[in-house]
Amino acid sequence: MKNKIEELFNEIELFTANTKEHVEEFRIKITGKKGKLTELFDDFKTIAPELRKEVGQKLNELKNKAQDKINSLKETLENTDDRPKENTDLTLPAKTVSIDSRHSLSIIRNQIVDIFSRIGFTVSDGLEIEDDWHNFTALNTPADHPARDMQDTFYINKNPDILLRTQTSSVQVHVMENTKPPIRTISPGRVYRNEAISARAHCQFHQVEGLYIDKKVSFADLKQTLLYFSKEMFGEETKIRLRPSFFPFTEISAEMDISCPFCKGDGCSICKGAGWVEILGCGMVDPSVLDNCKIDSKQYSGFAFGMGIERIAMLKYQVKDLRLFFENDVRFLKQFKSVI
Ligand code: DAH
Repeated sequence: MKNKIEELFNEIELFTANTKEHVEEFRIKITGKKGKLTELFDDFKTIAPELRKEVGQKLNELKNKAQDKINSLKETLENTDDRPKENTDLTLPAKTVSIDSRHSLSIIRNQIVDIFSRIGFTVSDGLEIEDDWHNFTALNTPADHPARDMQDTFYINKNPDILLRTQTSSVQVHVMENTKPPIRTISPGRVYRNEAISARAHCQFHQVEGLYIDKKVSFADLKQTLLYFSKEMFGEETKIRLRPSFFPFTEISAEMDISCPFCKGDGCSICKGAGWVEILGCGMVDPSVLDNCKIDSKQYSGFAFGMGIERIAMLKYQVKDLRLFFENDVRFLKQFKSVI
């Protein structure tokens, strides 16, 4: 009996397996109903009483060893199941990893940054969580100002002085507070508004703010800068037109249209027959905004503008539903190829 135990001990020790089926066969052969170990336990019943203790201990050790071996083989095969099968050709070239494209909004953002950087604009980053001063009050929009109703704001419940910025115009204030003019900067970033989500509106979107402050900056500078931008972005033949408008932080204020990039001004479904599409708001920085930011409005003047990145992307790529930009569906995302 001792010899049999010894033999089985060695057999278990030396056993190896490549597949789970192989391990299962082994389990049945050793610990199954008619297995070798089960047989030894049957023999144990007939053994002389004085040998029981010693042989019993050995048998128990053997049983534990068999169980450990089976478990560890199963575990190893479980973890290495995706190892190449024996007939896999390891010399084949590896599968290529698809790098895919940048997000369409990043592509447009980068294009805007590139266009303005060519005429000396730097990029200023801002904060998405803002205080009331930078998002509203310094921009000529005090608490009871009706223009606050234009932008449904997400406030932090515990502290209504803190909010999610509704416009990248807030970065203007930080920049002017901290920089001595001349200032020539753009600020791309995400903004938030408490809007119902639809094909044309979202609670989060992206804007680019532009700011130029120096001595003797005029409305003609603003017009020329925006014409340059529009031609670079939408093509050399693009025309612009400015319509009077209102923003609390600019005086005078305007909205700018470009000639429809699809019908070139003839009228189509995209421009709803008008031949023009609106792309941004702009104006001359209100002197009181300069004063709020400790810039002497008697010495300096400037212009500002703000545009939605989604709006530009929808026009460039003919995307009709704003929600597509945020769904991260790869079939949508991979259609856009980055040029810079
Ligand atoms: N902040 C405005 C908005 O979110 C956009 C804007 C309009 C920015 C005119 C400007 C500007 O700097 O001059 O609707």
